[in-house]
Parts: sequence; structure tokens; C-alpha cells
Amino acid sequence: MSPYPEIAETYTYLAEELNKLGIVYLHLVDHSDMGAPEVPSEIKGIIRTRFKNTLILSGGYDREKAEAEIENCQADLIAFGRPFINNPDLLKRMLNHWPLSHDLKKDQFYSANAIGYTDYPVYKTPNP
Ligand SMILES: Cc1cc2nc3c(=O)[nH]c(=O)nc-3n(C[C@H](O)[C@H](O)[C@H](O)COP(=O)(O)O)c2cc1C
Repeated sequence: MSPYPEIAETYTYLAEELNKLGIVYLHLVDHSDMGAPEVPSEIKGIIRTRFKNTLILSGGYDREKAEAEIENCQADLIAFGRPFINNPDLLKRMLNHWPLSHDLKKDQFYSANAIGYTDYPVYKTPNP
């Protein structure tokens, strides 16, 4: 999202109008972690304030960052994308404080088969 002079005005209007429609949630994706322009924090703040229903944020989150956003009331929910690919048991790992895999093979994205999507292993607890 590249900034432009009317950006705050535009998103204020959008958030208010979406709110009037009574939609259940907004899912705001910030792809700056993947090289896209960052969603300005001012815009996230505007949406958070003006849109009254559930706000989901995503893009480049880990557990700590996600919890901080929730605790600071910046979002109601945080969505995870890429961490689910190389951690198919992501929730279990987070709940148990098990280490996450950071070995994500980006050259295998968008493959036409299981390779790079469903062939990552689940966490193996060390033998006692
Ligand atoms: C391989 C791959 C495929 C994706 N496909 C889609 C898609 O079809 N539709 C979509 O809205 N987002 C898609 N995304 C974006 C993710 O939903 C998510 O917004 C993005 O990865 C940022 O979240 P993350 O930092 O937790 O991964 C894709 C991402 C990856 C890595």
C-alpha cells in the first residue's frame, strides 16, 4: 500500500462504510514482509477505530508479535500464512512452546503438487 495524499481520508470513509454494512470482519493483510509497501500504522489505526466489528491482521507475524497486537488492542485476531506451511502443526507448537521450523523453501511455493506444501514434518518431541 503506497501512501498518497488522500489515503487517510479514503480509508476512514471505507472503514465507516464497511461498518455500516454490518459485515462481520475485516482481514487486513500487510505484505511488507514479502517486499510490498508497508500498510502505514496510521491506516491500521484508522481502520481499528472506525470499523467496529472483528479486525484480523496478518503478515509477518510470529507468536510474540501477534500477542502484543492483541494485548495492545490493535486487532481482535491475528492470521498466520507462511508459518503454517513449514509448521503444519503450528498451533500445537505454539500451545506447547515447541520450537518452530524456519526452514521454508520459497522456491517450492506455487508448486503443482505436495512438494513444498504438505511435505513438511510435524515436530517430534525429543525422546526422554
Ligand atoms: C505460497 C503462497 C500462496 C498464497 N496464496 C494466497 C491466495 O491464494 N490468496 C490470498 O489471499 N493470499 C495468499 N497468500 C498470502 C497469504 O495468505 C498471507 O497473506 C501472506 O503469506 C502473509 O501472511 P504471513 O506473513 O503469515 O505468511 C499466499 C502466500 C503464499 C506464501
